[in-house]
Amino acid sequence: MSSLAATGDAVEATEFPIPAGVFAETVTSVKHYTDRLFAFRMTRPASFRFRSGEFVMIGLPNAAKPVYRAYSIASPAWDEELEFFSIKVPEGPLTEHLQKIQPGDTVLMRKKPTGTLVHDALIPGKRLFLFSTGTGIAPFASVIRDPETYEKFDQVILTQTCRENAELNYGRELVENTRTDELMSEFVGDKLMFHASATREGETRGERVTTLIENGKLFSDLGIPPLDPATDRGMICGSMAMLREIEGLLQARGFEEGANNKPGTYVVERAFVD
Ligand code: A2P
Repeated sequence: MSSLAATGDAVEATEFPIPAGVFAETVTSVKHYTDRLFAFRMTRPASFRFRSGEFVMIGLPNAAKPVYRAYSIASPAWDEELEFFSIKVPEGPLTEHLQKIQPGDTVLMRKKPTGTLVHDALIPGKRLFLFSTGTGIAPFASVIRDPETYEKFDQVILTQTCRENAELNYGRELVENTRTDELMSEFVGDKLMFHASATREGETRGERVTTLIENGKLFSDLGIPPLDPATDRGMICGSMAMLREIEGLLQARGFEEGANNKPGTYVVERAFVD
């Protein structure tokens, strides 16, 4: 893929004009974690503002009418670049191309961020649980790097369930970097916990987060009390099936769903895939 020629002369047949009303940003780095997952960073428009946990529509300048897909912004609001964590879907309309991007390439981004995995949609509490599977960790990569998260909560518990061990490396690096980051470490202190399980290999085989909530192992592993709606708040991001199951577990314990216009004790967003 090539970035766009600014002038009309000698434009190759494979190049398309940037559509009106979208940002055209430049990829600054790409990191592949497995043959199914990769992360990339790109420039951030000076005028672009978002709340940690929100998503935007992303596309490529590779067609007259580009295909856009929802992507959670994985970087925090203070970061001068934007970061995304993506699945690679074979023959996925966007990701089969997006997975090939290189630094210097152009990525399109619609201007308006939105989403429910935001502090505004939760009533105040003491512990914040962030439940994710696969790329569902992306919005939480933003939330755990937001100082406001640690101003609002005494403890932040991030969980990620993936099929394979190597798929957990983005989260592991993220948590380690957040704890040691010069800016963030002061806010984070020892408040951030991470529970990762690979369901199809190793010691954690079969340990979906849902199972770990039900049998209590999530809490005994971390040495913390079980879920309590009086003190705890939840954010959930994963597949439809995972969302439904975790919602069921939370509702059974007395949690109530929140929204931007009506904060509650938990919020949900589907991890968007192609
Ligand atoms: P499993 O290996 O038991 O299917 P996927 O790539 O299919 O989205 O799955 C990502 C991770 O989410 C896998 O570890 C998978 O476990 C797990 N998972 C799938 N469905 C659910 C669910 N309903 N609740 C909790 N975890 C789930």
